Amino acid sequence: MRIAVVGLGYIGSVSCGCLPHIGHAVIGVDIDSHKVAALKEGRPPVLEAGLATLVAEAHEEGRLTATNNIEAAIEASDVALVCVATPSRPDGGADDSQLVAAIESIGRAVRASARGEYAVIVRSTCLPDVHERLQAILAEASGLSYDRGLGYASNPEFLREGSAVEDFFAPPKIVFGARGVVAEDACRALYAGIDAETFFMDPGAAALVKYADNYYHAVKVTFGNEMGMLCQQLGVDPYAVMDVFCKDRKLNISARYLRPGAPFGGSCLPKDVRALSHVSRTTDVPLKMLQGVDASNRCQIDRLVARIEAAEPVAVGFIGLSFKEGTPDLRESPFLEMLRRLVASGRKVRVYDPLLSQVTRGADHDPLAELRPHLDDDLGALTEACDYLVVTQKLGGEVWDGLRINGHHRLLDLTADDGLRRFGRYEELYR
Ligand SMILES: NC(=O)c1ccc[n+]([C@@H]2O[C@H](COP(=O)([O-])OP(=O)(O)OC[C@H]3O[C@@H](n4cnc5c(N)ncnc54)[C@H](O)[C@@H]3O)[C@@H](O)[C@H]2O)c1
Repeated sequence: MRIAVVGLGYIGSVSCGCLPHIGHAVIGVDIDSHKVAALKEGRPPVLEAGLATLVAEAHEEGRLTATNNIEAAIEASDVALVCVATPSRPDGGADDSQLVAAIESIGRAVRASARGEYAVIVRSTCLPDVHERLQAILAEASGLSYDRGLGYASNPEFLREGSAVEDFFAPPKIVFGARGVVAEDACRALYAGIDAETFFMDPGAAALVKYADNYYHAVKVTFGNEMGMLCQQLGVDPYAVMDVFCKDRKLNISARYLRPGAPFGGSCLPKDVRALSHVSRTTDVPLKMLQGVDASNRCQIDRLVARIEAAEPVAVGFIGLSFKEGTPDLRESPFLEMLRRLVASGRKVRVYDPLLSQVTRGADHDPLAELRPHLDDDLGALTEACDYLVVTQKLGGEVWDGLRINGHHRLLDLTADDGLRRFGRYEELYR
């Protein structure tokens, strides 16, 4: 493909050096004449390991040139790869002015070239609403439509400065959010030959994969540092602790606990998070992220109760009440707290949780005394009595097989599982 790389900073320069090596002809564009001049002479505008050689080779072979004239670049290309900056504004929001200006100028140049087909792929990091606006700006400025001729895609960048060239040829993944067939075709051709798992999504979702990565990486660094402070305070070697922590690939370094779903609860997590928060508060070790964990979890519970209340159900049925599947343990179950709050606000509430019915009364104490008036023996009785069902457990698949609902029911799925999709009237927490 003939590619115009718009913006010759880190991302643009690395793209200019690497794309010719997988068969593309590249023309770099920037408003900064120094960067354009460097590339024209076969020198990379930024310092990055391995880039100088790649740029020099591509330049010598005639597969890399540069210009500060966007019209000339669009005329000489089939696809624009937009790599301009999206820095922070003083209020913390991302400044999209470079992106808007670049997309407008590309759109106008496409119109001026009178071509019937062009694709724009945005590598810059920006939020979904910005992608929406950019698509509209591009269509307006170019005079083309996404049904005929115009393509737009987000293609977030996952390479790291310092090892950017290496990452370009071996990325952790390739993600596209493409709109229009022209964009899809361009995306498929862009990294042909690079071996990486590739995902096609909508532009906004693709953009948020990038933010999810960076948020998570920031959380990981902060977690490591907070563990360091905590260990130091308690006289323990943090490296020894974290080395063993990272060896656990089942629960720690894995996809476990990462799917959006219910709040956490149970006999351990809340209590142990509280204990560490207490250490932080009483010793002045500033574990700010840790202290936010409990508050964030409580917000989840508030949000769920508010969502159920907003539906104004006649009766709410909990399918599973213990903090997780496979145990009748109700200690700090977030669902028990939800039940209490709904009951306190006057809602009728029923519960179906087969393991709870096996909990026996003590001689002078019934651990389920508070709950007995709400318990149902089977799923059928519960669904008959309730119009709003909160599914917190799959119950070993029984829910999927045994649930009989009609148009009168609403379902709220907190299982972080896809099983309930088969039911028509179904809402997930985050959809
Ligand atoms: N740097 C990284 O490691 C990295 C990694 C992943 C994603 N990103 C994202 O990639 C984007 C680019 O980052 P960067 O670090 O390469 O930025 P940068 O600041 O190094 O470079 C941006 C370039 O765009 C040029 N530019 C601005 N407006 C232009 C226009 N209208 N036409 C042509 N050129 C124009 C600027 O002159 C500059 O050379 C950002 O959104 C960033 O968040 C960066």
